[in-house]
Amino acid sequence: MQKFIIEGGKRIRGEVDAQGAKNSALPLLAAALLARGETVLYNCPRLSDVYAACRILGCLGCECRVLGNTVTVRADDPCGCCVPDELMREMRSSIVFLGALLGRTGECYLSFPGGCELGPRPIDLHLAALRKMGAAITETHGMLRCCCAGGLRGAGIQLSFPSVGATENVMLAAVLAQGTTVITNAAREPEIADLAGYLVRCGAKISGAGSDTIIIEGVSQLRGCEYTVMPDRIAVCTLMSAAAVTGGELSIRGARPQDIGAVIPVFEQMGCGVYAYSDRLFITRNRPLAAVGTVRTMPYPGFPTDAQATTMAALALARGTSIVVENIFENRFRHVDELVRMGAQIKTEGRVAVIDGVNRLYGAKVQAADLRGGAALAVAALAAEGTTELGGVKYIDRGYEELERCLSALGADITRSS
Ligand code: EPZ
Repeated sequence: MQKFIIEGGKRIRGEVDAQGAKNSALPLLAAALLARGETVLYNCPRLSDVYAACRILGCLGCECRVLGNTVTVRADDPCGCCVPDELMREMRSSIVFLGALLGRTGECYLSFPGGCELGPRPIDLHLAALRKMGAAITETHGMLRCCCAGGLRGAGIQLSFPSVGATENVMLAAVLAQGTTVITNAAREPEIADLAGYLVRCGAKISGAGSDTIIIEGVSQLRGCEYTVMPDRIAVCTLMSAAAVTGGELSIRGARPQDIGAVIPVFEQMGCGVYAYSDRLFITRNRPLAAVGTVRTMPYPGFPTDAQATTMAALALARGTSIVVENIFENRFRHVDELVRMGAQIKTEGRVAVIDGVNRLYGAKVQAADLRGGAALAVAALAAEGTTELGGVKYIDRGYEELERCLSALGADITRSS
């Protein structure tokens, strides 16, 4: 198992490009299945999850070529409708292929995506919506068998929770369905608007993406196009935490401040100077970090759950007591015990974490248990006294493009070792 070796105490400073967004690239790759001809995705992050999505497209009879940050997909005549079990297990978000496969081929077989590091990951909202659009779905022995012989039909879909994945799956199922689909209580995350931007450029008729009501008028065919993946707002938040804990300063090119409107005030309360420009974000820390009261994760435009762990790493070094409430996932504090091993003073009770800031953290042997928790441990290690051995880098590689190279270029002493 590969690990990062991090020597703390180095300031993170300089200029860096925001990577392409993992949580946009994955649904965009699924969406490419819907379009005849060639789709070219630029600014696609080089991540293990992206490569897994490309392997799924290959299993479905699409041609998929990865050249650096450009992924080309040809989906003239997809001949498969089964997502292999090992790929479903490797990447739970493969469920987003369900809507695209039903929309394009009318059938889909995939294993039930189990829970993951964050706790149970139900898909009841996805299945209820697709059934309402005419899909016959049976769940037997962990397998989902879905088909809609006469094609999907538009429907009114009221989501009981603004689920990102369920919103994406319904959009992907609706663009080629007969009739109009209206999604109410839709997720409003920027990745939803990015997905709509691609689909509309392919010829889809979508309005309201980014709001809580999305209207999709089914069309007969979509044609592939060229599209640039939006910047990864969570990777930007991670870099902000790295600058905050090390007392550094960063200019993050390509960052879209409007995507992290709930995060910037938290870092300003912590004592950072955050300066937003149209195409970049500048952050500096000009006084000791201060506690921020309570941070509650919420659906967009609230504080993003994916930035919870890395922000907590910064709060661990902030003078005073901060509280973090994780309202989205059941089990998203697995990084806490490892932060405590580094000297942090954090107590959790259910979905609430109480962080008593300390003056310093200490390097230790720690283990990532999930993607964002792993990134939080890397952030903490940057500021810790001494050496940290961070295991479970495979989780970090799912969502961060060569994190060690990115941080090294900004002054960190971090190496990858097997
Ligand atoms: C997406 O996951 C992201 N993943 C997650 O990022 C992110 O944390 C999450 O949205 C919330 O923003 C991708 O985009 C690939 P949800 P998703 O459906 O779609 C419950 C990361 O670190 N729910 O909005 O799975 C669910 O259990 C990852 O980059 C149901 O109950 O999130 C959870 O509690 C982690 N039934 C809540 O809704 C359903 O049918 C949010 O889930 C679906 C979801």
